[in-house]
Amino acid sequence: MYDFKIEAADKPTLYRDIASALEGLVTGEPDGIANMANAASLIWESLPDINWVGFYRNVGGELIVGPFQGRPACVRIPFGSGVCGAAAATREVQLVEDVHAFPGHIACDNASNSEIVVPIVRDGELLGVLDIDSPKHARFDGEDQAGSSLRPPGMIITGTGSLPASWPAK
Ligand code: SME
Repeated sequence: MYDFKIEAADKPTLYRDIASALEGLVTGEPDGIANMANAASLIWESLPDINWVGFYRNVGGELIVGPFQGRPACVRIPFGSGVCGAAAATREVQLVEDVHAFPGHIACDNASNSEIVVPIVRDGELLGVLDIDSPKHARFDGEDQAGSSLRPPGMIITGTGSLPASWPAK
């Protein structure tokens, strides 16, 4: 049994603690689905004020939902569509204070008001994105971006090995 209770006074510490726990969870496990599932669960259990967290995988130039926590989500998202598609197309983190003001936002859960989407790139290849939603407006800031986007968990997606020790702190 894993009993993680990650509570930190500040966001940088929180993300470091999450990264450390995640490294422990995935090290030595080559199965990408298992690792994405545990990563989504760990983030879900550790980050306050979120209502969805999970992965969209780049499958042949289209995003397809992967392991997540939260309500059932739209399965396929074209590159360039919505927040996830924007992150995939631009390969830039999308930090959205108000999703209702984002052109083309795809509402999977009406409760979502803000969102952060982190592209996962390894060796120049876009593997997918990590998407975190919140019911709070402007829930995510630069510290969340720094904590969640530093070193992409590419190995989670492909399952070719354990996470680099540097994730998410690059
Ligand atoms: N809101 C996302 C879609 C994915 S769900 O939030 C899980 C978007 O606009 O891309």
